[in-house]
Amino acid sequence: MYNGITYRKASCHDATFIGAIWNQGIDDGIATLEIDKRGAEWVKNWLSNRDPRYSVIVADNEGKIVGWLSLNPFSQRKAYMFVADISIYIERSYRGHGLGSNLLDQGILEARTNGFHKIILTMISGNEHARNLYINHGFRTVGIMHEQGILNNKWIDTEIMEKIL
Ligand SMILES: CC(C)(COP(=O)(O)OP(=O)(O)OC[C@H]1O[C@@H](n2cnc3c(N)ncnc32)[C@H](O)[C@@H]1OP(=O)(O)O)[C@@H](O)C(=O)NCCC(=O)NCCS
Repeated sequence: MYNGITYRKASCHDATFIGAIWNQGIDDGIATLEIDKRGAEWVKNWLSNRDPRYSVIVADNEGKIVGWLSLNPFSQRKAYMFVADISIYIERSYRGHGLGSNLLDQGILEARTNGFHKIILTMISGNEHARNLYINHGFRTVGIMHEQGILNNKWIDTEIMEKIL
């Protein structure tokens, strides 16, 4: 359906779009335990202060960013340097059309290229759309962390998933 989409490394010029898509995920209340909104300046700092091995990739629909994925450090401890934590967000009106799947393929490729051995992620339990996406890409559930965070005054369980590359 969206044939003109390209996948490339993010630049500071993408910060406004990335922040807007991130904030949709925060508003949805199912994508992340983050509650602080991401403004363009915050995203610019986040982009410019990262080790290049921890890439951010955007889905670019002819100049409009419609999704992004980041490889994030799992831990500062050196022994974990081959593990990347992953985040993925698609703009609301573009969800359910295969973009998340394509972007995750790109993220897995990028993680392999950057020498990671494994990808992990933390998902809010009940985010079935995301769960299907990860299962279809070879992730497995490590376990559930019960009552791990609070959103809208309710305890939230999170599911840890992993994929060896
Ligand atoms: C989760 C997310 C990244 C998936 O991206 P997407 O472009 O919407 O997903 P896709 O269209 O590529 O579909 C991926 C898989 O999800 C499943 N899926 C698609 N639409 C779905 C729906 N409405 N409900 C449940 N599962 C659905 C399908 O299994 C699909 O795989 P398949 O078509 O190969 O069987 C996207 O919906 C999103 O940004 N959600 C908000 C942020 C978020 O939850 N991020 C993940 C945090 S852990």
